[in-house]
Amino acid sequence: MTSPTHSPASQPAQSKRRLFVTTALPYANGAFHIGHMMEYIQADIWVRLQRMLGHEVHFVCADDAHGAPIMIAAEKAGQTPQEFVAAIAAGRRAYLDGFLIRFDNWHSTDAPENHQLAQDIYRALRKAGLIYARTIEQFYDPVKGMFLPDRYIKGHCPKCDAADQYGDSCEVCGAVYGPTELRQPYSVLSGATPELRSSEHHFFQLSSPRCAEFLRGWTQGSTGHGAPRLQPEVLNKVREWFAVDANGHGGLADWDISRDAPYFGIEIPDAPGKYFYVWLDAPIGYLASLKNHFDKGQAAAHWHEASRTRQSYEEFIADPAVEQVHFIGKDIVYFHTLFWPAMLEFSGRKTPSQINVHGHVTVGGEKMSKSRGTGISPLRYLELKLDAEWLRYYLAAKLSARVDDLDFGADDFVARVNSDLIGKYVNIASRASRFITQSFDGRLRYLGATDELRQQAQALAHDTLAALDAREYARALREIMAHADRINTAFDAAQPWVLAKDESQRAQLQDVCSRALAGFWTLSVLLAPVLPATASRVARELFGLDRDFLWSDCDVLPERVAPYRHLMQRVDPKVVEQLLQPPEPAAPAAATAAKPAPQPPSSIGIDDFARIELRIARIHDAQAVEGSRKLLRLSLDLGERDAQGMPRLRNVFSGIASAYDPASLVGKLTVVVANLAPRKMKFGLSEGMVLAASGDDDAGGIFLLSPDSGARPGMRVS
Ligand code: 2FM
Ligand code: ZN
Repeated sequence: MTSPTHSPASQPAQSKRRLFVTTALPYANGAFHIGHMMEYIQADIWVRLQRMLGHEVHFVCADDAHGAPIMIAAEKAGQTPQEFVAAIAAGRRAYLDGFLIRFDNWHSTDAPENHQLAQDIYRALRKAGLIYARTIEQFYDPVKGMFLPDRYIKGHCPKCDAADQYGDSCEVCGAVYGPTELRQPYSVLSGATPELRSSEHHFFQLSSPRCAEFLRGWTQGSTGHGAPRLQPEVLNKVREWFAVDANGHGGLADWDISRDAPYFGIEIPDAPGKYFYVWLDAPIGYLASLKNHFDKGQAAAHWHEASRTRQSYEEFIADPAVEQVHFIGKDIVYFHTLFWPAMLEFSGRKTPSQINVHGHVTVGGEKMSKSRGTGISPLRYLELKLDAEWLRYYLAAKLSARVDDLDFGADDFVARVNSDLIGKYVNIASRASRFITQSFDGRLRYLGATDELRQQAQALAHDTLAALDAREYARALREIMAHADRINTAFDAAQPWVLAKDESQRAQLQDVCSRALAGFWTLSVLLAPVLPATASRVARELFGLDRDFLWSDCDVLPERVAPYRHLMQRVDPKVVEQLLQPPEPAAPAAATAAKPAPQPPSSIGIDDFARIELRIARIHDAQAVEGSRKLLRLSLDLGERDAQGMPRLRNVFSGIASAYDPASLVGKLTVVVANLAPRKMKFGLSEGMVLAASGDDDAGGIFLLSPDSGARPGMRVS
């Protein structure tokens, strides 16, 4: 290795940064989806860059364990919430390892550290005079014996009278209201009519002038490194939240931070039967995970060199130089830009340095929906032996520092990976190293001056660093690939295969291949945050380093190369197609009422009948199916919720197109076989079967079954 020349170009002289980096804590009630992986990959790339620069980074996450949805899901699963959460947590590693996401620690918001920290922060806020109690009226489910969160109450919209609307807003007319305004309300959990009961709740006084003043300053601040604390579009949104209109409406409202037992959460000190609302203790989980990381001694690897002492969590977090950086999605900005910094500030703690907000991931232009079988399962991706680095590269190639959504397109994915990673990048090494190992015993030699080669590398490293550090990953990768193009062009123009035939051109051949490989070295250093496994192999196997690349390696020209070993496969479009297929149903099943059903046995027992789960469904939407005269696509509400507690609609194809105008069906109630195995059809996944009567011949017509009035979506038919 030639010794690195000191170059302010590729690496600005900067003192060592001390970084505490997190991603949002995922709810412990479901598997990761591609959106989670995108956030982790975005943060992991940034963290790897900082580590390559020699900065001290502690990168942590945890499961967000508390809240009513998890408590209810656990009960349904016949488990304690702790058991339920533990089972989810046990599944996390496969995803993180699989996608090369290297957190220093993974913890849980139900861990003792979080109970302690949440109670400490609460006490400090109370002491600061920012907590008060007030009695409020809330719906109570007398059958379940619990107060109902808004999302577990349904009824008729107070504005348009549409049935089965949630407790906060109407999906039909768009009205926003409180759950107590619903007409004929019922509990989604038990079907019972909820009762209004009063209960004392604890509030955090976000409306206080102290909070407003602090937050106005904080939100407009910047990091110690000149970057704004919030992205411009996020700051604009926050300004809207601050705004008070001419009538004095708007502005920051106080925050209800308590929930009544039974609740899976952290007890509020001196308030028996009261728990912190999950969103109070969730972000505190960042600190709990960091503390756990330090207490376990894992942070020893990052001992503060200057002091040469092993730091405690308390010492680390008290250091004003420590930067606290959160990566989050756009749906949780309110919590992270208002409640969280205010809680930290007024409990006397370090406030976040930067909140990095990203958009959502869409697949093929559509919002992901499990119920429609769209989206990509990260585990399936790995099972299909698709390379984790392809996804890392692809997502990075589409990520900027803006809050835009990002679309995963199958064709785009294949094209991008095959053209960039294989066609431009890996290609250089496979072509150039062969000549060097075959004819020059692996020795690189450069004819004439190498200043220009070095300067090019340093200039590129400088620009790439600026882009990656600012999370402009797409821009960084564009520049890196443009450089790969230049290397390939120069290599082809020199025609090494012609030079190789001429003994007198040996030195020339060695120079051409050495320059190409020096370029490949630089590209590999710059791509290392995105492609850590490949870069590590390039460093160790191809160039014989005994360590992974550091950013300062941009200033180095390699001197030897080992025989090329296959680095990366091309993507097979057929496998990507498989990835996008909805999961195969467990067993084939008839999906439409119009299909002739198999002949039933002459009599069945009640147990046989009980195996069929019939439920009331409301037809939320009905559409003709292009290419089918028989089928309608029905979107059905069975009163179900997804892991995030959002209404989940089922997609069912039904052979009733000859008998019904789709528009006439919307809003109707019908009966559905709810536990029919989902069936993949030409037009999509069918997740159930609606019941209809029909005669033996088509002339008899088709008649959809519907319940008597008063029945509600999700009710069991028996
Ligand atoms: O939206 C969510 O998935 C939350 N579980 C995020 C929590 S982030 C932090 F505050 F813990
Ligand atoms: Zn309405």
